[in-house]
Amino acid sequence: MTAPIEGFSKLGKEDKIRWIAQHYTNNSEDTIAILKQYWHSDPKLQNLHDEFIENTITNFYLPLGIAPNFLINNKLYAIPMAIEESSVVAAASKAAKYWHTRGGFKATVLGTEKVGQVHFMYEGDTEKLGHFFKRVQPKLLESVAAITKNMEKRGGGIRNIALRNKSADLENYFQLHCTFETQDAMGANFINSCLEGIAETFKEEAQLYDAFTQQEKDLEIVMSILSNNIPNCLVRAEVSCPVTDLKAQDGMEPMDFAQKMVRAVNMAKVEPYRAVTHNKGIMNGIDAVILATGNDFRAIEAGAHAYAAKDGQYTSLTHASIDDGIFKFWIEIPLAVGTVGGLTNLHPLVKLALEILQHPTAKELMQIVAVAGLAQNFGAVRSLVTTGIQQGHMKMHLLNILNQLGATESEKHKLIAHFKNHTATHSAVVQAFNELRSKK
Ligand code: MEV
Repeated sequence: MTAPIEGFSKLGKEDKIRWIAQHYTNNSEDTIAILKQYWHSDPKLQNLHDEFIENTITNFYLPLGIAPNFLINNKLYAIPMAIEESSVVAAASKAAKYWHTRGGFKATVLGTEKVGQVHFMYEGDTEKLGHFFKRVQPKLLESVAAITKNMEKRGGGIRNIALRNKSADLENYFQLHCTFETQDAMGANFINSCLEGIAETFKEEAQLYDAFTQQEKDLEIVMSILSNNIPNCLVRAEVSCPVTDLKAQDGMEPMDFAQKMVRAVNMAKVEPYRAVTHNKGIMNGIDAVILATGNDFRAIEAGAHAYAAKDGQYTSLTHASIDDGIFKFWIEIPLAVGTVGGLTNLHPLVKLALEILQHPTAKELMQIVAVAGLAQNFGAVRSLVTTGIQQGHMKMHLLNILNQLGATESEKHKLIAHFKNHTATHSAVVQAFNELRSKK
C-alpha cells in the first residue's frame, strides 16, 4: 500500500508525474513517456491548460467532430461536437441532413430564469421572520449592488428574492429563494457571489432586528448556492413535416415509420427504464456541444434529469405526435449555458467552436444545443425502430476494434470494405482480421 502524500499540489509537474508513475503504475518510464507525449509543444498553451485545474499532469484528448447541415430557424449551422462515442457525430449529421430537406429545425427559448438559494435554520416565530424579511429585502439587494452593477448594465441581475418556509419538510428549515437573469453568461460565479453577499447581510441584519429574541437573531446560514434545477430556463426545439414526406425506411411505409416513432417515444414517456436510455441518447448530442463550447455538462445533465422527473416520474424529454397527417417531434429541456465568461474566452478550441457557431448569444446556443439533442434522439430512435442500433454502432465502432487489433492502414481499408456487406460484431471483426493476416 502506498502511504498518503503530503503537499502533492506543491510539487512541480515533473515531480508529480514521477510520483504517480512510481507509486501507481507498473512501468514508470512508459507512464512518464505517455503523459509527456500529450503535452502541448507550445509551453505557453500548455501552461494555459495546466492552470485550468489543480494538479494537472497532462492533457486528456477527446475528438472534436463537426455535424454539418443543421438548418435552425432558417440559419445553417455546422455544429462542433466533442465526444468519444463513435456513432454520435455520424447520427447527428444524418439527422441534420434528413431534416434540412423537410423545413429544418425550429427552436424557441421559453425562459432564461436562473435560480439560487440561501439555506438557513431559524427557530422562532414564523410571522416575525416574514416581517423581518419584508423589511430587510431592499437592503439585501443594496448590499450586493457592486456585484450586480455590471450585470444590470447588460440587462441582467437579481429578479426576485422570496422567503420560503421549508420547515414542514425539515424542522426549522427556511430559504431565500432567488431568481436571476444572467444574459450571455452561465452565471454560476455571479449567482454564488450574490447569494453569499445576501446571506451575510441577512445574518447581520437579523442580529440588529429588535423584535427578534436572541434565539431568532441567531438564525444560522447553512449554505448559499445556485441551483442546477432551472425549470424556467427552458428551450423548445421541433421538427415537423407531412407524414407522406417521411422517407420510406427499410421497406417501411412512411405512416408505419411515423407510428413506430411515436410509439417508441410514448414508451419512454411511461417507462422509466426506457426513458433513462432514451434521454441518455438525447444527452449524447447535448453534452457533445456543451463540452465543445466550454459549458458545464454536469450542470446540464443534473438540470435535464431533474426536469425529466419534475412531475414525480422520470419520463422522456422528447415528444412525438401525428395530427392531421403531420408528424411532429419535439424537445423541451432546461439549459443553463454561457457564451461569455468561464472557458469561453480562454480555451482556444472553445473559442473556435463558438466562432464556427457564428458567435451565438446564450439564447442562440440554447437553441443549437436543444436541436443537437433532438436530432440525436431522432437518429437513435429511428435506428432502433428500423434497422436496430447495432448496425450503425458497429459500423462506427469497427475502426476502434481494428485499431485495438493493431491493423495497418491497408488492412483497415480491406476490412472496412468487407464489412460494408457483412454484419460487424466484435468476434466477426476479430475473425476477419485473423483470416486476413493468416493469408499473408
Ligand atoms: C447509446 O449511446 C444511445 C441509445 O441507447 C439511445 C436510445 O436507446 O435511445 C442508442
